[in-house]
Amino acid sequence: MSARVRLHVNVDHVATVRNARGTRYPDPVTAAALCELAGADGITCHLREDRRHIVDDDVVRLRASVNTTLNFECAATVEMRDIALRVRPELVTLVPERREERTTEGGLDVAGQAASLAPIVEALSRAGIIVSMFVAPTDAQLAASRQIGAHAVELHTGEYCHLIGRAMQDELERLRGACERAHELGLRVAAGHGLTRHNVGPVAALPHLEELNIGHALIADAVFFGLDRAVRDMRAAIDAR
Ligand code: PXP
Repeated sequence: MSARVRLHVNVDHVATVRNARGTRYPDPVTAAALCELAGADGITCHLREDRRHIVDDDVVRLRASVNTTLNFECAATVEMRDIALRVRPELVTLVPERREERTTEGGLDVAGQAASLAPIVEALSRAGIIVSMFVAPTDAQLAASRQIGAHAVELHTGEYCHLIGRAMQDELERLRGACERAHELGLRVAAGHGLTRHNVGPVAALPHLEELNIGHALIADAVFFGLDRAVRDMRAAIDAR
């Protein structure tokens, strides 16, 4: 059996519910603490350009209270780089961002944007932050991530989660190949997007996979079962791989 896969819970959608009414509740920082108590290995938050869920003050408060690992997801912009350098999360995951998308729809085009990404990766690395690239599982993106000095990649599982049957299996094989390739390149491997209790098992069993970032489905489960049980059930689904 390979090493335990870490579960990072993305608390963005607690902030989505809060912001829908402009209240102070539910607080994503309280949610993060409950996730940690339930066994989460880290907390993920995505500060979007339009601040539609997590806002700047949440990131500061999360930094002050998260005791595990804080994974700060952001677009590769100078504004976000500077926030990351001030807040000092353990991990920054660079993601693509388009204002009109409902959620992060594709991976970052590291191969196509290497020149603009490299200085951001370098600045964050120099500050002692682990830098990860959220990418589609292709050789070109993995090689480019390595080339610009990223420490890790997060493989985009959105395709896998949308497909069914044979096509889903094929995408899983593509993810498997990417895990092997990333490992050969010396990159740490994470995965995420669209994962649920029901589809996480085969992803958690991929070789060299160290970490999963899971948000929407887990927070949706929490609406019905509570956050503690939602984290524990996800943990159990990961461990059942
Ligand atoms: N990983 C990354 C890079 C993401 O952008 C997101 C969504 O914010 C997630 C993981 C979590 O995806 P989901 O909310 O579908 O579990």
